[in-house]
Amino acid sequence: MIFKKLFEPVSIKGLQIKNRIIMPPMHSNMGNIEEGITDEAVDFFTARAKGGFGMIGIGVIDTYFVPGASSSLSFFLQNDVHTKNHERAVKEIKRHGAIVYAQIGVRRIWPVQQLHRYPKLSTLPKEQIYEMIDSMIQTAIRVREAGYDAVSLLGIGGGAISIFLSQVLNDRTDEWGGSFEGRMRFPLEALGGIRKALGEDYPIFFRLHGSEFIPGGYHVSTAKRIAQNLELGIVKGWCKIHNSETHKFSPVAALILQCLLDTQSRLQADERQNGLLII
Ligand SMILES: Cc1cc2nc3c(=O)[nH]c(=O)nc-3n(C[C@H](O)[C@H](O)[C@H](O)COP(=O)(O)O)c2cc1C
Repeated sequence: MIFKKLFEPVSIKGLQIKNRIIMPPMHSNMGNIEEGITDEAVDFFTARAKGGFGMIGIGVIDTYFVPGASSSLSFFLQNDVHTKNHERAVKEIKRHGAIVYAQIGVRRIWPVQQLHRYPKLSTLPKEQIYEMIDSMIQTAIRVREAGYDAVSLLGIGGGAISIFLSQVLNDRTDEWGGSFEGRMRFPLEALGGIRKALGEDYPIFFRLHGSEFIPGGYHVSTAKRIAQNLELGIVKGWCKIHNSETHKFSPVAALILQCLLDTQSRLQADERQNGLLII
C-alpha cells in the first residue's frame, strides 16, 4: 500500500482520530441566518461520517455578516437556536465515530460591488476591526458549547485574516499593518482571545496559505514565519501554554512546517534542475 498510515489512528492534542482521512471545511450553501445550520447539512455531513472520514470540518461559519459581501446561505453560530442546531449536527456526526471541528472566520470584508473599486484595508475603521475579532471569539465560545471537538480559524481565501496577513492587500500603516508584526496582529489578537476564552486544552487549528500566489505576495518562507509566530504569539503572549524551555510546535504546526519545508526543498531542487521556479 502506498499510504501505509492512512488507516492508522492518530492523536492531535488529545483528540483520538480513527484514521488520517480528513474532510476539510467547504462552504456549501447549507446554512442560513434563521437556523445557523440546516437539516440538509446535518444529513450531508452525517453521510460523510458514515462513509468513514476520521475527521470532518464544518464551515466556514461566518462570524461577521456584511450585507452584500457575505453569503446569506453561510453557516452561522450566533444565538441559542443556532447552537442547538449545531449541537444536533455534532451529535449525529460523532455517533458514527468521526471527530468534528468547526471552522470560523470573517468570510468577507467588502460588498462585491466595492471589489471593482479595489477597496483599501486602510479605510477600515478600528472599531470594526475590534468587532470582527470579538465576533470570532464569541463564536468560538459557542463552538465549544455546541460540542465540537476543536475550532479552526479561516486564515485563507480572501477572509479577513488572509487580507490582514497579505503583503499586497494590507495597505495599513498603523499597528494593524506596515510590517510583518503589524500584519500578524489581527490573527494573533483573534487567536489569543480564543485561547483565553476556551482554556489551554481546547484544540485550535489554523488554516493558512503556503503562498499568496499573487505578484508581490509572500511565499513559503514567510508562511513558515507566520506559522511560527502564530504559535509563539500564543506561547509568549496572552496564554502561557508552555514555558519557553519546553516549548515545541504542536503536531499540526509541525505537520504544516514539514509540508512547507518539503515543498521548499522540492522547489529549490526544481530550480536547480530547470533554472526556473514554478510554483
Ligand atoms: C465549494 C467549495 C467551498 C470551499 N469552502 C471552503 C471554506 O469555507 N473553508 C476552507 O478552508 N476551504 C474551503 N474550500 C477549500 C477546500 O477545503 C479544499 O481545500 C479544496 O477543495 C481543495 O481540496 P483538496 O485539498 O482535496 O484538493 C472550499 C472548496 C470548495 C470546492
